[in-house]
Amino acid sequence: MIFGDFILTIETEKGETYEIRDFSLKNEGLKTMEWAASRMPVLQFIKKRFEEDKPFKGIRIGACLHVTKETSQLCEAWLAGGAEVYLCASNPLSSQDEITAALVSKGVNVYAWKFMDTEGYYRAIGHVINARPHITIDDGADLVSILHKLKRGERDEEVEIVQKIIGDVTDIIDGVWGGAEETTTGIIRLQAMADDGALLYPIMATNSSPSKNLFDNVYGTGQSSIDGILRATADLIASKVFVIAGYGHCGKGVAMRAKGMGASRVIITEIEPHAALQAVMEGMEVMPMIEAAKIADIIITATGCKDVVRKEHFEVMKDGVIACNTGHFNVEINIPDLDSLAENKVKIRPFVDQYTMEDGRKINLLGEGRLINLAAAEGHSPEIMDTSFALQALATEYILKNKEQLKNIGGRVIQIPDDIDNNVALLKCKALGINLDILTPGQEKYLSSWHVGT
Ligand SMILES: NC(=O)c1ccc[n+]([C@@H]2O[C@H](COP(=O)([O-])OP(=O)(O)OC[C@H]3O[C@@H](n4cnc5c(N)ncnc54)[C@H](O)[C@@H]3O)[C@@H](O)[C@H]2O)c1
Repeated sequence: MIFGDFILTIETEKGETYEIRDFSLKNEGLKTMEWAASRMPVLQFIKKRFEEDKPFKGIRIGACLHVTKETSQLCEAWLAGGAEVYLCASNPLSSQDEITAALVSKGVNVYAWKFMDTEGYYRAIGHVINARPHITIDDGADLVSILHKLKRGERDEEVEIVQKIIGDVTDIIDGVWGGAEETTTGIIRLQAMADDGALLYPIMATNSSPSKNLFDNVYGTGQSSIDGILRATADLIASKVFVIAGYGHCGKGVAMRAKGMGASRVIITEIEPHAALQAVMEGMEVMPMIEAAKIADIIITATGCKDVVRKEHFEVMKDGVIACNTGHFNVEINIPDLDSLAENKVKIRPFVDQYTMEDGRKINLLGEGRLINLAAAEGHSPEIMDTSFALQALATEYILKNKEQLKNIGGRVIQIPDDIDNNVALLKCKALGINLDILTPGQEKYLSSWHVGT
């Protein structure tokens, strides 16, 4: 059945259905996948082991992730391990159409294309749920959230779209052993569900592992968000007043890179005193958004919070300002406020909507307020996603191996065990040719003793 005007729906002999943009992009996608593979040594190492052990034989993995060249490598690792993989997008703008085509050719069931509308986005989630996954992998918790809404009998626009695919079934969640979550915002949502007693199966907090958030969130988001701004605008960063809302992992990375590219002032807005102090110690200025908005040339939000940039801020912004977001959802910049203040809106470049205010000022919103590194650029580099997706691959294996114990744990957000996390970091060091010192027996004893003092 064809749902959209331009979406290619492929039905295979086995009766599987994919929804992607253009299958003829397959060869381009395969070359790009090769490029990513050559830059993800840790994941290749894990894939090789999966190939030999086939741990996922007969297992269905349902993933809601940014469908990028890096994600293709995680899918390949699962496929190598014998899994059936069902993949939808975790953001309407983040899919790379050549990768979706290449993944279909490799045997992944893909439901994703760039510029999905709401209907397409949730229909894709419906397809993944319809596959009755044993394990879910999320980036932002939309897949988990829909599975729970179905079970609780909650009915809204999103669930209705999903039901067009799956029918009236509500208990697909009962067959899920466990899941893993990729991002900060997803963990916050899932922890809130667990605190309410609403989470029905255990989720591994991949984002909370040091091998993920110390690298992906900081250096990945730092570089790729600047890349997104540059690809969208082709502007100069040097000499600009660059405002970053949130000085957590992502904000720190963006600030570091903006400084390095010569921004004349890097200004942080924060709600948390330690983060504000850290920013000041790093040589940044800290002030409330209402002050920063008046002088900003470029504003980027990286908070995981909503309405960080809103009406009162738009009212004081300079003519020509650029506003964008790199947090997970498109709620950090209040776009309805901007719509209501503007006299008109023109798409002046592919990822730039220019809003003209009543007084003639122009405000440029990038990537429809969605995470700019994935909307206008290609997300994090493969070198960065190597460790994040190595963790996801190993989290998937952990869920499989421990499914009986996880049943007893029930609806909790759990950490990836330290030995898995350390192993990923060690493998990355090895791949980069970084050798570490090893503690002598005397040092080990000293570090575990409380007897030795001054
Ligand atoms: N673009 C990407 O590729 C990417 C990658 C990783 C994470 N993320 C997303 O980025 C967001 C931030 O993630 P993180 O890991 O940096 O989180 P974090 O918790 O480390 O940092 C968030 C920071 O924002 C601050 N903050 C919260 N509300 C604020 C407000 N109203 N105004 C100013 N500051 C505020 C917090 O005090 C905190 O210091 C999340 O939505 C996360 O899912 C995006």
